[in-house]
Amino acid sequence: MLTKTANSGTGGALVEDEPRQGKSASVKPADESRTAKAVPKSLTIYIDGEFFPEAEAKVSVFDHGLLYGDGIFEGIRFYNGRVFKLEEHLARLWDSAKSICLDIPMSRNEMTEALLETIRQNDLRDGYIRLLVTRGVGNLGLNPAQCKRASVIIIAATVSLYPENAYRNGLTVVTCATRRTSPSALNPAVKSLNYLNNVMARIEANLAGADEALMLNDQGNVAECTADNVFIIKRGEIFTPPIHAGALRGVTRSVVFDIAAELGLKISETDLTRHDVFVADECFLTGTAAEIIPVVKADGRVIGNGKPGPISTRMIARFRELTGETGTPIFS
Ligand SMILES: Cc1ncc(COP(=O)(O)O)c(C=O)c1O
Repeated sequence: MLTKTANSGTGGALVEDEPRQGKSASVKPADESRTAKAVPKSLTIYIDGEFFPEAEAKVSVFDHGLLYGDGIFEGIRFYNGRVFKLEEHLARLWDSAKSICLDIPMSRNEMTEALLETIRQNDLRDGYIRLLVTRGVGNLGLNPAQCKRASVIIIAATVSLYPENAYRNGLTVVTCATRRTSPSALNPAVKSLNYLNNVMARIEANLAGADEALMLNDQGNVAECTADNVFIIKRGEIFTPPIHAGALRGVTRSVVFDIAAELGLKISETDLTRHDVFVADECFLTGTAAEIIPVVKADGRVIGNGKPGPISTRMIARFRELTGETGTPIFS
C-alpha cells in the first residue's frame, strides 16, 4: 500500500554524478495548467512501500548497502511525462540482482507502479529517478544471509545537466590510472552500489581539470568513462568497446545502436585503444544522465577538428526526438 506523508523538507536533490557546470532542469508541475514553482520543494521519497519527505527519508546504519556497498541501482530519466526505456532499466536491475543473489522483494509490475507513483507524488514531468535495492538490514558482519529483506528506495528529482553549450562544444577527457574493475573481480555489468572504482577515476579527472575520465581495462583497452559508454567514429563508421572490455550494457548505448540502424550507419563493437580515440574523427559518450554528449579532446589531443562532428550531431538530434516522444506514460 502506497501512502504519502507530509511534505516538510527544504531543498530538492540534484544528481551528483555529472559535473555541476550547468543549471538544473526546471521542475514542471504535473498539471500543466499550473505554473512552475519558483522555490525548490522537499522531495517525496519512496522507501519500502511508504513515502517520506526527504528530511525524514532515512535508512538503518546496519543496512548492508551502506556498510558494504551491497546492493544495486538504476538511473532512469523521464521526459515530457514519460519514462524513457523503463523496461530496459528494470530488466538490467533484475539481471544485476540475479547476479549478486539479491531477492528484489516485489514484482516488476509493482516496481513500475512504485516508480510512476513516486514521480507523481513529486509532481514532475521531466527528471531523473534513482532506484536502489540494498541488501537490507543485517549485523556488522558482511554475510548477506544476515539480511532478511532487501530494501527498495526510489528518488525522483530534477537532474543537473551539462549546459547546452557542452553539447554544442563538447567535453574533454583524460585517461586515468585507475583501471576499470576486472570482470574476474567484480563484473562491471552488475550495476552495483559499489562505485568506488569509478569515484577514484572521477577524482583523477577532477584533479586534471577534465570533464570526464577515460577508463581502461587490465589489457589497456578502453572500457568506458565513469558513468558513460564511449563511442568513436572513423571514416563514417561507429565503434564502441564490447561489454567484455568492461563496459556497462548501457541503455543509452543500445539506443545508439538503434539510431545507427535507422540512419543506415555502420556500427560495431570492437576493442579500442587510446590511440583509436586520439585519431578518431568524432567521439561521444552516452549515459542516462549525460544523454549523448560529444568529446572533443582526449589527453590533450584534439579529436577531429575539435568540434562535435556531423554524426554525433545527428545522433543527438534523433535521441532528443525519441526521448520527447516515447516512453511509459506517467499520468495515464
Ligand atoms: C559505469 C557506467 N557506464 C555506463 C553507463 C551508461 O549507462 P546507461 O546508458 O544505461 O545510463 C552508466 C550509467 O548508468 C554507468 O554507471
